[in-house]
Amino acid sequence: MRYVTEALLAIGLVSSSALTTVAEGMREAVLREAILANGFLPANATHIGQPEDLVEIGKLLFESRLLSFDRGTACASCHVDRFGSADGIVNAIGTEGEGLGFERVMKGGDIVPRNTLPFWGRGGVGFDTFFWDGKVDASSGVVLSQFGDRAPSIDPLVVAVHLPPAEIGEMVIDRWETQSLQAEDVETATALYEMLTARIRDDPIMGPNLAAARQVELEDIQFLDVTEAIASFIRFNYRVGQTRLHDFVYNSGELSNEERDGGLLFYGSGGCTTCHSGPYFSDLKYYVVPFVQAGFGRNGFGVDYGRFNVTLREADRYAIRTPPLLNVTRTAPYGHSGSIFDLGDAIRGHVDPLRYVDPESMTENDRNELYQRLRLWAASPLNGIVMSDDDVSGLKAFLGTLTYDSAMQVKIVD
Ligand code: HEC
Ligand code: HEC
Repeated sequence: MRYVTEALLAIGLVSSSALTTVAEGMREAVLREAILANGFLPANATHIGQPEDLVEIGKLLFESRLLSFDRGTACASCHVDRFGSADGIVNAIGTEGEGLGFERVMKGGDIVPRNTLPFWGRGGVGFDTFFWDGKVDASSGVVLSQFGDRAPSIDPLVVAVHLPPAEIGEMVIDRWETQSLQAEDVETATALYEMLTARIRDDPIMGPNLAAARQVELEDIQFLDVTEAIASFIRFNYRVGQTRLHDFVYNSGELSNEERDGGLLFYGSGGCTTCHSGPYFSDLKYYVVPFVQAGFGRNGFGVDYGRFNVTLREADRYAIRTPPLLNVTRTAPYGHSGSIFDLGDAIRGHVDPLRYVDPESMTENDRNELYQRLRLWAASPLNGIVMSDDDVSGLKAFLGTLTYDSAMQVKIVD
């Protein structure tokens, strides 16, 4: 091939710039093909239609503090437009929190020991697994959750929406009056749901609108109607939008050379699509990536056993659901505990985890913990990948092509 090229150049049949253009065009074609082969879809192929009136009332419920026991916290206190539908802080701050983003850290409040997840693509076609540890998981065809065989819905997003209002520290304030609500059983949650539903029925705007949208009498509104409406809002508002990558794949849109080369790495030797695959950039399965743990941790004292909390299977210890990457440039900080502020560090942390660890400042227990996670990571395909600074910049540039805006603006609730 090289000789042919040189000969053509020598006899002046093609100019070197024309050849560069051909080579660039080939790289683009290879990337397009790799993206399609990986299960990428046109944005609207992931959409599930939602009734407009249900979306509207779902938005009001999402912005309402009435769904928290002490009327202090709304879904929109933590899922904020400005932070890409997350909250911009390391571990979430729930009840007794005030303000948005870093203000919440300054003012204090109850800490939820995980990073707030954003909503992009959630509940679209095939998106059936929720939370960092997949505690709501319908990938088997049945919704598995802490409701056991009493799941309130066969729609995993509707089941997921049931959880935050019953979570201590997230929307249920941690006080002696709420001690009885900490039982974490279905009866306790049901009683709480009934109390919250009564507030919605009594609300002069949300009550009648929800009844109308669900075609039930006002007094017959159930908590399921509330959660169906919120799920409908999330599904609609954060549905996959037309990104520059969609334009590139389907409408001959352009990418910069850096974005394109980052894409070739993402779909090629970077190995990213082993896990970040398909239209949401996640296989919705669970892996150990030894990001530094920040905060108290789901299991306490700086430990988060991840998926193990759900399955109690040894093989699942420390495993975390592959996070989707749509709009990832807007959702910092990263990782299940929000320990990484920079997107480049999050990328490099997969292949060079010790770079971000200071063993001297860790306790013996923390170090032991890290050894366990490194042992599991060492057996994964990530171990052995070497990444240059240019590779990391390319991958960052590529991920920047996955940006789009939500359909509606969420009201600020602080
Ligand atoms: C205190 C901040 C906070 C509030 C308030 C809050 N969330 Fe979240 N949300 C989080 C955090 C943190 C996570 C990740 C938790 C985990 O995976 O363990 C999350 C995850 C989710 C997820 C899963 C997303 C995914 O990728 O799987 C859904 C759905 C969700 N929240 C919906 C809601 C709804 C609906 C409300 C209101 C009823 C709400 N949240 C209120 C912080 C909050
Ligand atoms: C073996 C599966 C696997 C591979 C391969 C993989 N990732 Fe990840 N990725 C994960 C998991 C799991 C997490 C979450 C880890 C955690 O929170 O503890 C993650 C987190 C991330 C995050 C942070 C997202 C967020 O919202 O917090 C980014 C960005 C990311 N990966 C990009 C990449 C890129 C780029 C590549 C290729 C170089 C890659 N990943 C390869 C599994 C993988």
